Amino acid sequence: MEIGSELYRKTLLTITGNSLVEKLTLKYGKKLAGKFIAGQELPEAIDAIRELNGKGIMATLDHLGEGIKSMREAEGYRKEYVRLVQAIAAAGVVSNISLKPTQMGLALDPQACYENIRLVVKEAQQCGNFVRIDMEDTPFTQATIDIVKRLHAEGLTNVGTVIQAYLHRTRQDIEDMIEAGIRLRLVKGAYKEPAEVAIQKKSAVIDNFKDMIRTHLDRGIYTAVASHDDTIIDWTKKYVEDNGISKDAFEFQMLYGLRMSYQAELARQGYRVRCYVPYGAMWYPYYTRRLAEKPANLMMVLKNMFN
Ligand code: FDA
Repeated sequence: MEIGSELYRKTLLTITGNSLVEKLTLKYGKKLAGKFIAGQELPEAIDAIRELNGKGIMATLDHLGEGIKSMREAEGYRKEYVRLVQAIAAAGVVSNISLKPTQMGLALDPQACYENIRLVVKEAQQCGNFVRIDMEDTPFTQATIDIVKRLHAEGLTNVGTVIQAYLHRTRQDIEDMIEAGIRLRLVKGAYKEPAEVAIQKKSAVIDNFKDMIRTHLDRGIYTAVASHDDTIIDWTKKYVEDNGISKDAFEFQMLYGLRMSYQAELARQGYRVRCYVPYGAMWYPYYTRRLAEKPANLMMVLKNMFN
């Protein structure tokens, strides 16, 4: 089963321009992607967050975009992020923001990317908000960590990043970032990575994930456990209960459109829950990763496609 599902994931993650799924997705896109995306425009996303807040769920807002082709595009995203930080403050909703470094130009011009992110983080600081820098694939791991460390060194501490349990380097990165006082979201890892850099066995990734959670909780460091997996969620609930750790010491995070009623249920149980809310026109790569993660997501799409 593990081998089969890993093959499925790899196959979808290597989808190319001529694949059937890509063609169908692009053709029927907006309707299908709507399950995972809060809308194409910012006001729709703010409405979605307001609804989540009504259920006791916090949000992190993501303007979709990655792998851009010019720094002009990066500038457009930077302006949009400044606008959405201001919109969150104006609407009075409970949400921080998540952005991708390649969206801000990391692959094209690292210094200009740093300046773009810095402007967003500064605006967020003025609005009392927090910025999460998503972690992309391994060509960008070190550069992303360096950006976050540099921002902290400049006194911009309202920024954190993400650590992926599947990477061999993760244990060392966690220690470094805890040392630097950087807040982390913990995830399994969503990209196709080779065995030289990433653990391939699912059960070993889960063991590493638990280890990362334990490292944070035992030291009283606030963290975000981002997973839909009951193995991880139930383990965390039991660990905090067994060790007398407060429910305020961490938060669960899940993606918009996945396990929505369970997100509300966790909030009712008194856990801090944050939903990752993406919006915007550049939904395709995000959407493909969601399909790759879980066969049921693809089945849901295929069912919707024909009714
Ligand atoms: P996974 O997909 O591995 O599923 C494991 C099990 O969980 C399933 O077998 C099932 O039992 C249960 N399950 C999963 N989905 C379910 C559903 N919809 N309904 C019922 N049961 C379900 N990655 C990255 O590389 N960089 C990043 O910055 C981020 N950021 C991020 C933010 C947030 C808020 C989340 C939730 C995730 C990310 N990720 C990420 C993605 C992450 O790395 C990972 O790819 C996905 O979360 C999928 O792994 P899971 O642990 O969620 O479950």
